[in-house]
Amino acid sequence: MKRDFLSIADHSRAELESILDDAARLKADLRAKRGDRPLVGKTLAMIFEKPSLRTRVTFETGVKQLGGASVYLAPNDIQLGARETVADIARNLSRWVDLIVARTFSHASMLELAEHATVPVINGLSDLLHPCQVMADCQTLQEQKGRLDGLTVAFIGDGNNVVNSWIHAAARLGIHFRLACPKGYEPDPGVLAEARETGSSTIEILHDPATAVDGADALYTDVWTSMGQEAESQIRRAAFAGYRVDAALLAKAKKDALVMHCLPAHRGEEITGEVVDGPQSVVLEQAENRLHAQKAVMVRLAGETD
Ligand code: CP
Ligand code: NVA
Repeated sequence: MKRDFLSIADHSRAELESILDDAARLKADLRAKRGDRPLVGKTLAMIFEKPSLRTRVTFETGVKQLGGASVYLAPNDIQLGARETVADIARNLSRWVDLIVARTFSHASMLELAEHATVPVINGLSDLLHPCQVMADCQTLQEQKGRLDGLTVAFIGDGNNVVNSWIHAAARLGIHFRLACPKGYEPDPGVLAEARETGSSTIEILHDPATAVDGADALYTDVWTSMGQEAESQIRRAAFAGYRVDAALLAKAKKDALVMHCLPAHRGEEITGEVVDGPQSVVLEQAENRLHAQKAVMVRLAGETD
């Protein structure tokens, strides 16, 4: 029976912790120039409806390091759902490849792909979720702080796909999560309700950045305008004007608070150059860990499907 990696909410705490352990081991193996090649003979199809630097390079590099191959399908190559149906694409790809990673606009397309594919599908970002990013973020926090349980992460900005996946992870891994966003930019209500019902940590939606960062172990931000929302960028710039992560805001968090961003960053917009490039920033560690966390996900899914 194949399993997908579409949402952190589909995985138990034990599974998530085990993926994070595997990611740490794969990282150590790569650094020591050792490690198995469990994906020899396997191919990953990479469907991208949106641009990418980190997701594309880390999946391509990761599968290669594990002994496998990849096929990149750019937005114009298959025109998901336009040239042919999502279901037909899923059925065809399943006859040739062993894993699929997709970056879609609609989350419904992601679910449809997974429903009709007989091979595992990994969510490389949809409008609703970005689970691979948050696995790498948790790996980074674990490395930097030595634990996840009981930490407080303050996210300043839009209640977007990264935030939704963060809420899933926080609820499962015992991380207190606070979002400070303008009114009208809250996260998905279903994600929030589920996390509050099932999670052991506190999930707070606030509107004042200073309150959110008080005592936080990490400050996280992301772009104010996500891919696909470009037409709203002017309105969003105005709405988020008071939500920039700068040195004054950082000073209100714990002294050793980490600065996190999934990247790409817009210096001078959601974060100042001084902070994103400063000594408390771990943004490149997060980017690096995309490689290791996703390798752990691929190995697990391929193993469970064999
Ligand atoms: N953080 C992230 O997913 O980056 P890319 O959009 O470059 O893949
Ligand atoms: N929220 C951003 C994340 C980019 C990695 C977007 O969806 O564009």
